[in-house]
Amino acid sequence: TADLNPALLPLDWLLGTWESDEPGEGCFTTIKPFRYTETLTFSHVGQPVINFMFNAFHAENKKPLHRECGFIRMQPGSNRVAFMIAQNSDVIHARTESPGMTQKRGRVRWPAGLVEIEEGELTGQQLNLQSQALARVSFAREPHVQKVSRVIQLRPDGRLEQTVSMATDNEPLMQHLHITYRRQAA
Ligand code: HEM
Repeated sequence: TADLNPALLPLDWLLGTWESDEPGEGCFTTIKPFRYTETLTFSHVGQPVINFMFNAFHAENKKPLHRECGFIRMQPGSNRVAFMIAQNSDVIHARTESPGMTQKRGRVRWPAGLVEIEEGELTGQQLNLQSQALARVSFAREPHVQKVSRVIQLRPDGRLEQTVSMATDNEPLMQHLHITYRRQAA
């Protein structure tokens, strides 16, 4: 296995696999609060790039839900960090009235698919990221995400914590997700 590229040393605390210790909490004014579990993997192959995958699951029935993956880079000589992210945005949607739904009644899959560039600063072991660019598939259902901001930090107790806020066409920036993770043994 390759040595970590020196450009990424400030982010070495992210590397490895992280498992939610207790279910994360999801909320937004327009939806029913929900709980989910999530596994994060951060890896590298010696390039000045971290590869990542975030896989979220239904807290009760364990079915795969939301997934994100992408790459992380650091601007040389600075504490500026960029995440390049692709999201499947596949969640079980409980509402029935919106256009673009794949069936009229009951719980349906939500057609979406989002890509993002998020950038921000690394301070100690805390990342503060804001979306710089967002794009989606032409048939993504509304409301469309207009802004994402997230904080990923290593807490003094050794847990990783992630908080994600978003703004949509209809709602101002507010929290959507909060979750903590425990590092899995290698
Ligand atoms: C709902 C975006 C991550 C689960 C939503 C909505 C948006 C959204 C725009 C619809 C809000 C509305 O209708 O007003 C995002 C973004 C994410 C993200 C940008 C990452 C940056 C996740 C994750 C999960 C999740 C990790 C975990 C399972 C849900 C659920 C709903 C939802 C369950 C409610 C669906 C319903 O209407 O019943 N999300 N999401 N999301 N999201 Fe996320």
